Amino acid sequence: MGARLNISHDLDLDLEKVIGQCIAVLGIRGSGKSNTAGVIFEELLNQQYPMSIVDIEGEYFGLKEKYEVLVVGTGEGVEIEIDAGCAAEIAEVSMEQNVPVVLDLSGFLSDERTELLKEYLGALWNLAGKLRRPYIIGIEEAHEFIPQGVKTELKELIARIALRGRKRGLGAIVVSQRSAKVDKDVLSQAGMLLLHRVVHEVDMRVYGELLPWRKSEVKEIITSLETGHCIFVNGDVVQPIYVRERATFHAGFTPTLDAVAPPALKQVSASIIEAIERAREGKGRRSKTQELELQLARLEEKLGEKDARIVELEDVARTLGYIKVEVPAGPPSALAAGAPSALAANVASIGTPETPGVQSLPHLIGVTRRSRRADALAARRSTAPESGWGILDVAEEESPDALPPAVARHVERLVARIERQSPLHRRVLAFLVAHAPDAYTAEQISAWTHCARALIEDEPPADLLETGLVERERRTDGIRYRSRLKSFVTAEFGVYQPDIGEQGLHEVARRLRERLGTA
Ligand SMILES: Nc1ncnc2c1ncn2[C@@H]1O[C@H](COP(=O)(O)OP(=O)(O)OP(=O)(O)O)[C@@H](O)[C@H]1O
Ligand SMILES: [Mg+2]
Repeated sequence: MGARLNISHDLDLDLEKVIGQCIAVLGIRGSGKSNTAGVIFEELLNQQYPMSIVDIEGEYFGLKEKYEVLVVGTGEGVEIEIDAGCAAEIAEVSMEQNVPVVLDLSGFLSDERTELLKEYLGALWNLAGKLRRPYIIGIEEAHEFIPQGVKTELKELIARIALRGRKRGLGAIVVSQRSAKVDKDVLSQAGMLLLHRVVHEVDMRVYGELLPWRKSEVKEIITSLETGHCIFVNGDVVQPIYVRERATFHAGFTPTLDAVAPPALKQVSASIIEAIERAREGKGRRSKTQELELQLARLEEKLGEKDARIVELEDVARTLGYIKVEVPAGPPSALAAGAPSALAANVASIGTPETPGVQSLPHLIGVTRRSRRADALAARRSTAPESGWGILDVAEEESPDALPPAVARHVERLVARIERQSPLHRRVLAFLVAHAPDAYTAEQISAWTHCARALIEDEPPADLLETGLVERERRTDGIRYRSRLKSFVTAEFGVYQPDIGEQGLHEVARRLRERLGTA
């Protein structure tokens, strides 16, 4: 067993478990998030675990009470003034020489902050690709940097670190008081969650998706959490814990009338300051050739990522039937016989890393991926010209993963959430979805679903109404309900639209209709 991180008496947490992990610490203001994150940092510092903390409000310099942590940024209290121009070099010194850094960004304007972070985190990402050793990045106010539904270069970088940093040893601790405003992919993929108290319904909904409990349980348990208490989630482990108080000075503490003595702070060693100063001034650390090599490596890395993205998008496009594929037309007899399955195999392999499929795309036209029977293909193929390149439909069963994985996962999360609803509400929803777009009274729904009318009236599907899946309208003849699946999909999945297009949204709606339309 490896070293234990003593963040709570209630929890046995191995250091190993944290390596390369994305940890999300959520909760309302004052619920104890920064204390929790600070305690994790303290425990990691006890193990000489290297890190950078993106500190927006100057809350973390107190770590210097006990640890050799370097505070960089601008303004009062920072040890070294930095800007975007030297951020990459500082990041590299931190990672190469194992220097914990607090990046105090409280003195920067938002644009400067963004530029600096892009340089700093970009350098950490690149260097981690080479060094592949444990390193963790803490990010306070994460909703500002990885907002849900908004695309920025910085967000893409941070999300990449959080979602794909593991293989490089890069982990992240994202802290936010606005759970619903943090990128959903990052939250749903976070390997470890520390969920402090929330009260707002939108945040409660996010918790509902992260916790394997019924909605009413989530609300009851989460609203009763006191400061410092949270729900710890890691794989199958879901348990309430109390996180100990920080041992070092917490500059974000809630002021009281008692006087607080300023902490005595440790200084980092002169040699580290010197290394940073050299890096900051860009003197003598690297030769011109080394500089160019590094630049080249960064560009190659970017290119690699772009290539990967192209393959990903091609996959999405293929899934939606946009990419046309040309295959050589053999003699009609061969096609009528064994060809369809060979063709299907051919298309299935396009774009996989093992085949040169991507390179051969320019030669490919005309095969669309649709749910057609193989024999229909064969019949059609037999009428194709005998020479040259024919245009085909490839016979394939409907692919179960015709949507990009992130979208499919989102669909599954939604379905799981609906499945946690009461049987009554599931039946009401199923009826409305199956009979969309018309609106029905409780009496009509009751007649069709065999649920007591009084129950439907007394227990309207509050969660479904709140999410916008179902709409309630008051008419002269009473209250009517209708399914709003289509507009719900547009709102909920709109963020994926640039990738999956209208057709993808239709597919999402189709799947949801299929899954929710029966109960
Ligand atoms: N585990 C704990 N035990 C005792 N006191 C705690 C604990 N966690 C937090 N506190 C105290 O509660 C107050 C709020 O904590 P903290 O600053 O960590 O909250 P927060 O969720 O980060 O708030 P904000 O969103 O405003 O940043 C502080 O005074 C802190 O010292
Ligand atoms: Mg805080």
